[in-house]
Amino acid sequence: MENSEIILSMKNIVKEYEMGEEVFRALDDVSLEVRKGEFLAVLGPSGSGKSTLMNIIGCLDTPTSGEYILNGEHVADLDERQLAHIRNKEIGFIFQSFHLLQRQTAQENVELALIYANQDGKKMHKRSEELLTKVGLEDKIKSLPNQLSGGQQQRVAIARAIANNPTILLADEPTGALDQKTGAQVMQLFHELNEEGRTIIMITHDSKIASHAGRIVKILDGRISEGELEDA
Ligand SMILES: Nc1ncnc2c1ncn2[C@@H]1O[C@H](COP(=O)(O)OP(=O)(O)O)[C@@H](O)[C@H]1O
Ligand SMILES: [Mg+2]
Repeated sequence: MENSEIILSMKNIVKEYEMGEEVFRALDDVSLEVRKGEFLAVLGPSGSGKSTLMNIIGCLDTPTSGEYILNGEHVADLDERQLAHIRNKEIGFIFQSFHLLQRQTAQENVELALIYANQDGKKMHKRSEELLTKVGLEDKIKSLPNQLSGGQQQRVAIARAIANNPTILLADEPTGALDQKTGAQVMQLFHELNEEGRTIIMITHDSKIASHAGRIVKILDGRISEGELEDA
């Protein structure tokens, strides 16, 4: 792992939110490097800046200052079209609340990600079936989200997230809405994806969930430290 390529590099990232007269610093001088194939957990309590960090990593938001290089590109130099491309192709997002479209089947939800790949319908159906089979949902392809358990819905979201073979899987509290057993199953799936060489960045407040990762960095009051789990 030490020798693999650095795919994400943040240097001295600051994110400030203006609230009327006040300025609130949600990220304070964050520096972070992630290598290809890593499974990294960012562990911190509620309000510590985890989602703010995720939004910047995922190019959903921009830092107030600091340098962010993703796949060799300075993100600050990219225009909106290039950023949209990165969000669609290079990053697979997984959220606590799944973010599935409720009126669309599991298969249609996965295919939303594939529309950008410009595949014809037949190819797209084949690919979405493969993806749903991979996450263990081959018998739920035509199910609507409300016909699925939370764990199954998260699996659909994971199938959608990996659809375009993204460089990074970025998960914000992926087990936050799941019971312990289902959460552990989702972590098993993360392990499998990581063993295939996928880079995973997982954000969590749960040290047990973080312990599944190969490396843990802690975040507190917007500041990051590499750390052992014991003093989390
Ligand atoms: N848009 C915003 N405007 C003002 N303050 C914000 C905004 N988003 C987040 N914050 C504040 O920044 C801090 C970190 O928030 P967040 O990144 O959501 O933390 P976490 O995901 O770890 O719970 C919190 O104190 C939160 O209130
Ligand atoms: Mg959050």
